[in-house]
Amino acid sequence: MAIERLLKGKRFKHAVDIGGGFGRLCVLLEYYADRVTLAEPSQQQLDLAKDFLRGHPRTDCKRMQVEDLKFPDGSVDLIVMIRVMHHLPEPETPFAELARTLSDDGYIILEMANYTHFRNRLKHLLKGKKMPDEPVDIRSSDHRKVDNVPFVNHNPRTVIKQLSHAGLLVENTLSVSNLRSSGLKKVMPSSLMIALERFLQAPLASTYFGPSIFFLIRKASSN
Ligand SMILES: C[S@@+](CC[C@H](N)C(=O)[O-])C[C@H]1O[C@@H](n2cnc3c(N)ncnc32)[C@H](O)[C@@H]1O
Repeated sequence: MAIERLLKGKRFKHAVDIGGGFGRLCVLLEYYADRVTLAEPSQQQLDLAKDFLRGHPRTDCKRMQVEDLKFPDGSVDLIVMIRVMHHLPEPETPFAELARTLSDDGYIILEMANYTHFRNRLKHLLKGKKMPDEPVDIRSSDHRKVDNVPFVNHNPRTVIKQLSHAGLLVENTLSVSNLRSSGLKKVMPSSLMIALERFLQAPLASTYFGPSIFFLIRKASSN
């Protein structure tokens, strides 16, 4: 819903889905772009993508990570990076790569797990604690013992500053998954939840209410 909203009426030559897993979103991106590349570091995900994207000749798959994108400068006019930021506790190099690769008139859709969502803010307030600016590692101690892949949630205000440092400007924001709650899911019909979510994404964006934030980003020089 958020991606369709942010891309409405736009058309692209080359879209890249960074950290796109097995390619679930590439299928959607084909509606907006002549050509799509799934850029994914995990060979296991790329193997799954081979099956999932069979019958999608306009999408190709490349093994790479966001810190080292194998695209020439300014060659991509749509970059999408969804549910990847939690693996990037230090996003400065990734953001510099996004800025390098993006064409001057291009767009980025960046999703981030939001540590400062409403419920967390309330919890911090009740404990008299300040919201951290830095990314927060949300793995349990057991999880940390068995897995050294970072898993952080970010502060959107810090992310906006980091983007700006890379020459990238946020043009639009959506607050997403605003009604994420197992209790609500049990009592509210899903059609009503979807309608409410659609209604709330834009008005709640300025307060970073939801646990997931979508940014539509352009190069600072394009304004
Ligand atoms: C939760 S999955 C999200 C997949 C997909 N974007 C989606 O929304 O369905 C996280 C993905 O990020 C990828 N990833 C992890 N570190 C990355 C990095 N440094 N650069 C690019 N992708 C990365 C993982 O391999 C994994 O496929």
